[in-house]
Amino acid sequence: MSSLTDSSAWRALVEHSKSMPSVHMQTLFDADPQRAAKFRCEATGILLDYSKNRVTEETFNLLLALARSAGLEDWRARMFNADTINHTEARAVLHVALRNRSDSPLMLNGEDIMPAVRKVQAKMRDFSQAVRQGSWRGYNGKPIKDIVNIGIGGSDLGPRMVCEALKPYARADLRTHFVSNIDGDHIQDTLSLCEPSTTLFIVSSKSFSTQETLNNALAARAWFLGNGGSEIEIRKHFVAVTTNAKAATEFGIDSDSLFDMWDWVGGRFSLWSAIGLPIALSVGMEEFDALLAGAYAMDQHFCNAPLTDNLPVILGLLGVWYNNFLGFDTLAVLPYVQHLEHFPGYLQQGDMESNGKRIDRNGNEVDYQTGPIIWGSTGTNAQHAFFQLMHQGTKPIPADFILVRDSHSDLANQQRMLLANGLAQMEALMRGKTADTVAQELSEKGVSAEECERLSPYMVFEGNKPTNALLMDKLTPERLGALIALYEHKIFVQGIIWNINSFDQWGVEYGKQLAKNTLNALNGELEAAKGFSASTKSLIDALKSE
Ligand code: F6P
Repeated sequence: MSSLTDSSAWRALVEHSKSMPSVHMQTLFDADPQRAAKFRCEATGILLDYSKNRVTEETFNLLLALARSAGLEDWRARMFNADTINHTEARAVLHVALRNRSDSPLMLNGEDIMPAVRKVQAKMRDFSQAVRQGSWRGYNGKPIKDIVNIGIGGSDLGPRMVCEALKPYARADLRTHFVSNIDGDHIQDTLSLCEPSTTLFIVSSKSFSTQETLNNALAARAWFLGNGGSEIEIRKHFVAVTTNAKAATEFGIDSDSLFDMWDWVGGRFSLWSAIGLPIALSVGMEEFDALLAGAYAMDQHFCNAPLTDNLPVILGLLGVWYNNFLGFDTLAVLPYVQHLEHFPGYLQQGDMESNGKRIDRNGNEVDYQTGPIIWGSTGTNAQHAFFQLMHQGTKPIPADFILVRDSHSDLANQQRMLLANGLAQMEALMRGKTADTVAQELSEKGVSAEECERLSPYMVFEGNKPTNALLMDKLTPERLGALIALYEHKIFVQGIIWNINSFDQWGVEYGKQLAKNTLNALNGELEAAKGFSASTKSLIDALKSE
């Protein structure tokens, strides 16, 4: 038994959880008219209503006790104070430094890192302004029209999600594209939309060693050189964001066109760094600053609000409750905001690469569940896809509904319909529909009693499905920054409770390692497949080019 599952805080929750499956949320609402007001928290322009969860005040107090016994406040201070909390990579975790709006220094190994952060931000400002104002031009003197970000994982998902989310703030004459997949169709489809003399490529790779990114960058360079560009003009059309300046310059990127980042920024937390360059180019540095300001506001809230009124803490604890005590192993993320289309996919890396771990900080295998499966899609589309299972399937699925009051469109009526749908779904998931109500509805429609009895079981909804509602006034850069930072800190809270390192990602290495040999085997080197299973060998045979 681990010290976590053996702790009194954990055991108290196990005990408490035994009584909860039979408790229906509707009963909790009926019993306490103040419930909605009690389970509600607002900060940084985000209102969280968490009253439609299978929790009581006692549940929450027990969860808070668990957070305290895990030393959450101490770990939080350690992250913000640049301690080496990523112990398997011997690194500090300082994405929060990238949005630090205060004048205070942030010391790492005896050095204030803020001047270096601000220097890169100033370079991003100058460069994005030059491109947007047309003083940075392509080789035939025309302004840049297409920005192609070449990166994968954290060097793609964050900026791609934000560029889509902030589309209403973007310049219509400057298109952004994101190429990530090693599948040649991805780069070729994108290039077919662009013209070499007006295209700017951002090669975005923290390590500058990622197979997908380097090969896509090589394909882009070949396309550029094969379609009118010359070696000397590469510097006007290729820039890079990386910690590995040597590899980037060897690739042929001009040293002046390099944007620095640091090993203390994890890939999945890097959109706040120069990895966010496509965002700055698309919406301008002022809006990028507003995004950082929103995240900083959430950082401040996370650090200063009491745990009882702390958005990331509340979301984190609810997740732990379902994951570890009620046995619900997924979380659906459902933005009722079309521009947040890529948010669930972005969060998949943020959460699952962070907390998908089975060895704790002491090197022991855990005896409890860690990171949940994160998935989702936008409302109302999701209602017509997988909501059936959420309402009447056999798997309980907690869900986060993200709603904004005002749309960027001028179709106010449609916005009200969108919101009405989101609110109605949460209500239906919570309330359910009893056999009596079904019978009444059917008889009102003139359905015979016999038919009513036959159909009723299919039409009953058990309800009691937990949801969080996250509300904002509008999806502005500031609100988006706060929303992303909220989920980042939620992931941190859960990692601390589970006693795992949320900031390494050894699990993605093994497949990459084996891919080298499978590639050699596909290229005809039979020896390379030695040690592979008969299944993989036969698949290699089936796929091998003649
Ligand atoms: O998927 C593994 C990973 O290391 C991610 O953590 C990272 O975001 C991605 O690969 C890309 O890495 P890089 O920015 O070094 O190319």
